[in-house]
Amino acid sequence: MCGIIGYTGKEKACPILLDGLRHLEYRGYDSAGVAVENSDREDHPIEIVRVKGRLQALTEKTNDGASVEGRCGIGHTRWATHGEPTELNAHPHAAKDRRVVVVHNGIIENFQELREVLTRRGYEFHSQTDTEVVAHLLDAYYQGDALDAIARAVTRLRGTFALGILFREEPGVIYAVRKDSPMIIGRAESGNLIASDVPAILKYTRNVCYVKDLEIVRLTEDSIRFFSIDKEEIQKEFTTVQWDADAAEKGGYAHFMLKEIHEQPKAVADTIHPRLKDGRVDLSELGFEESEIASLRRIQMAACGSAYHVCVTGSYVLEKLTGIPVDVDLASEFRYREPVIEPNTLMVVVSQSGETADTLAAMRYAQQKGVPVLAIVNVVGSSIAREADKVLYTWAGPEIAVATTKAYSTQLAACYLLALYIAQIRGTMTDEAISSHVEELLSLPGKIERLLEEKERIQWLANKFSAERDIFFIGRGLDYASSMEGSLKLKEISYIHSEAYAAGELKHGTISLIEKGTLVVGVATQPQLVEKEISNMVEVRSRGACVLGITSYGNYTIEDHDDFTIYIPKTADCFYPSLVVIPLQLLAYYVSLARGLDVDKPRNLAKSVTVE
Ligand code: G6P
Repeated sequence: MCGIIGYTGKEKACPILLDGLRHLEYRGYDSAGVAVENSDREDHPIEIVRVKGRLQALTEKTNDGASVEGRCGIGHTRWATHGEPTELNAHPHAAKDRRVVVVHNGIIENFQELREVLTRRGYEFHSQTDTEVVAHLLDAYYQGDALDAIARAVTRLRGTFALGILFREEPGVIYAVRKDSPMIIGRAESGNLIASDVPAILKYTRNVCYVKDLEIVRLTEDSIRFFSIDKEEIQKEFTTVQWDADAAEKGGYAHFMLKEIHEQPKAVADTIHPRLKDGRVDLSELGFEESEIASLRRIQMAACGSAYHVCVTGSYVLEKLTGIPVDVDLASEFRYREPVIEPNTLMVVVSQSGETADTLAAMRYAQQKGVPVLAIVNVVGSSIAREADKVLYTWAGPEIAVATTKAYSTQLAACYLLALYIAQIRGTMTDEAISSHVEELLSLPGKIERLLEEKERIQWLANKFSAERDIFFIGRGLDYASSMEGSLKLKEISYIHSEAYAAGELKHGTISLIEKGTLVVGVATQPQLVEKEISNMVEVRSRGACVLGITSYGNYTIEDHDDFTIYIPKTADCFYPSLVVIPLQLLAYYVSLARGLDVDKPRNLAKSVTVE
């Protein structure tokens, strides 16, 4: 979703803002802008430059930042919510005479009501955005004390926000405040920064501080001060981010997605290795009492997008290995369906960004009902990581492409670890079974590597199918969960209509969609279900479908019933999703490439969905 960057320091601000925005492009956006204050001139004017569309247009309009003078500024990439993506609706937004200039992430829910109040007070609105009310509201409260104006204005806002603010009467100063939308502060050699996300500032510093809800930050070239909403100064710790600047660059790959696909063996190894000791899983980092695990009666999982597919896979694996009943929900449904949550339930949420609004809300709902939440999260210091009772970090590193790959793989690995750990404590698996699964886990990175070596063949298949109109994915059990992810991956970046179906459901309606030549991808890895899945493949093929089968080495009879086959290495039944997903990701990538699309930044999508 929207991205924020701000810089005040010794260097010219605009090029730094543009660079920061470039590193936030991955979040998804449809317009962009910067505001830079020029303290070198006596009247220290604030120049605002905005464009509709890609950042390239902003770069051109500012001559790579060279034409905008000043060493203090804020920038924004906007993903339209209130009002179309136009230059007028792009941020920054300013109050009269640019006394106050703001960039905003999130949604102000009571903006209409505030807009009416402010209009009655004589304020004129020039955009359709909810953000513009924030600029005017701050202006209305500003009586020469910016901190006071922010503290007052913020108490009037309902909804979610991360704000970067300039006051013309305070040259060289940036203010920041947030509620339920991420904001970090970075301390660099040449000055200080604000950003909605770590990759935006990695090039300048790894020394960061995570702003909490309703904390106000005041940054100058050489100072950073934090205040509570009561205007009391507070002390905050800075931490060193482990990610390095290269991790947020393409490193020779054509796209971030391809790079991240190739980073999966390492990301999975980094996630599992520290948690395996002497043939057993060690998740003592979570701080569970054994009695807590022993008394668990239910696990409830919730997430969005691909992380939801991880939950579907995780639910099969957890239930099978631990014997505990597991329910799975889309976080956006869970939060409003008023689910009954019994005592002795463990809530598990999964999120790469740790900022997804619906997942955060689902987590808070469970906490209100008095059950602990374990979060599987990639971004250290994110909202979900901070608020969860227990955090199991995935060590995927920064993921930039909108379509998740390595985060998904590490989330799967985290689910396997959790299932084995609970099984160990509850004694639902023998020591031998645990150690053979641990061995299999250790071999997954190497097997993923082997699958990546076959990418040329997948590219060949992708070129063949890149003009399809509809593509179906079918599977049973864990293969159904993998099919859901394969289908989502394909549709989000290739814009080809695609659906995933539980293969057993085909005859209840879907099979009527099969025409001569329709591509059906059939996933068949689960030994007890392979024959049944192959029967479903035969059914669609006999109605004209072209079938691409994905199965493990050894199941060679599949070739009598499909048109093309992709074989994957053998592993423990419950770990197949980690291998199946590799050709599915490559297929989606190469189809998108063949169609000449923007693989890393698909239309209308955002990497981190911080609004409902
Ligand atoms: C967006 C992303 C997906 C991701 C989902 C959940 O839709 O494009 O790739 O799976 O959000 O995000 P999270 O950060 O919570 O894992």
